[in-house]
Amino acid sequence: MAKYRIAWLPGDGIGKDVTDAARIVLDGLGVDAEYIHGDIGWEFWCTEGDPLPQRTLDMMAETDCAFFGAITSKGKDVADKELDPELQGKGYSYRSPIVRMRQLLDLYICLRPCKAYAGNPLNYKDGIDLVVFRENTQGMYIGVEYPQVPEEFYAVKGTEKLPRDAAISFRAITPGGSERIVRSAFEYAVKHNRKKVTAVHKANVLRQTDGVFMEAARKVAVEYPRIEFDNANIDAMGMWLLKNPFNYDVIVTTNLFGDIISDLCAQMVGGLGFGCSGNIGQDYAVFEPTHGSAPKYAGQYKVNPIATILAAKMMLDWLGETDKAAQLEGAVAAVIAEGRFRTYDMGGESSTLDMARAIADKL
Ligand code: NAI
Ligand code: MG
Repeated sequence: MAKYRIAWLPGDGIGKDVTDAARIVLDGLGVDAEYIHGDIGWEFWCTEGDPLPQRTLDMMAETDCAFFGAITSKGKDVADKELDPELQGKGYSYRSPIVRMRQLLDLYICLRPCKAYAGNPLNYKDGIDLVVFRENTQGMYIGVEYPQVPEEFYAVKGTEKLPRDAAISFRAITPGGSERIVRSAFEYAVKHNRKKVTAVHKANVLRQTDGVFMEAARKVAVEYPRIEFDNANIDAMGMWLLKNPFNYDVIVTTNLFGDIISDLCAQMVGGLGFGCSGNIGQDYAVFEPTHGSAPKYAGQYKVNPIATILAAKMMLDWLGETDKAAQLEGAVAAVIAEGRFRTYDMGGESSTLDMARAIADKL
């Protein structure tokens, strides 16, 4: 029996291209794992009314962690039309499988390291090395939304002036949920010799929800006197990050702000082809590139596999295979530094798989 059982979820579009590439590197490393395919993505919404079928969740329950490519999501109007006519009008409603996975499995940390590897022509500035901790289960993405204001809302003080046709989204933030994400950021800082944790919020406007978040952040920060702690408003943070990226180290924030700020950080180190991510809970995790399914490139083996290969590195670290993780990262860094293999986004013509093979050759 293999040492690890890994749920393998390529998903839609380029999800297959990039996970094929990651497998070349994992096999090159000789990771003792069994990879079990799972159905996920748009086609399962269309044919079954569920982009994350129960059989996939059952299979995942028998594995150590999961590796995920990307999925295609579409707006409600399109989703409803593309659902099998036999299933239409029967109460099926599209929800992003990745958001659902995060909530169902309580994968409360979204960890996104953003490192500028030397020689990457897409680096905003060389030497950037940021890590974003995004809360992954609460905030603006809890999925409680109304197409218009429910009548009973008007009984709540302060809602009198809400226009009747306003769509409403709820944002929920708990002290416990905030504490655990902030604590993970500090623990990471300690473990990886990082100097500073910055909490990002908009507490001056979102007084209740970000008030809870910042109170938890300040409380946890006191437990880590050796790590510098500061905070910034989300809007200012966008500017500061571009102006002085070296002033930041570990960033911790709520769900929506983390989604936005981590894309900003990823762009500073090469963009979607370099953004990797781990959705991590107490004893399960799902690793993925941050990009989507890029349908126009699907199956062309043209896109950059580095984000996905770095997600494999994160997975190895999480499994405790830290030597293999370091070896993998060294190989990625060497191929980038050499510059002989570059995909189109880096200004080259290498294919997805050639890039992966070049990395495997450096192991
Ligand atoms: P996308 O990330 O799929 O692609 C946007 C553009 O970025 C692509 O057209 C391509 O030019 C570039 N790109 C993406 N990945 C790349 C790579 N590895 N190498 C080089 N270039 C790359 O975002 P888009 O077009 O907004 O969404 C396409 C679909 O993906 C949508 O259905 C969207 O809902 C879904 N999506 C899924 C995500 C996920 O699975 N976690 C995340 C983001 C979007
Ligand atoms: Mg995003």
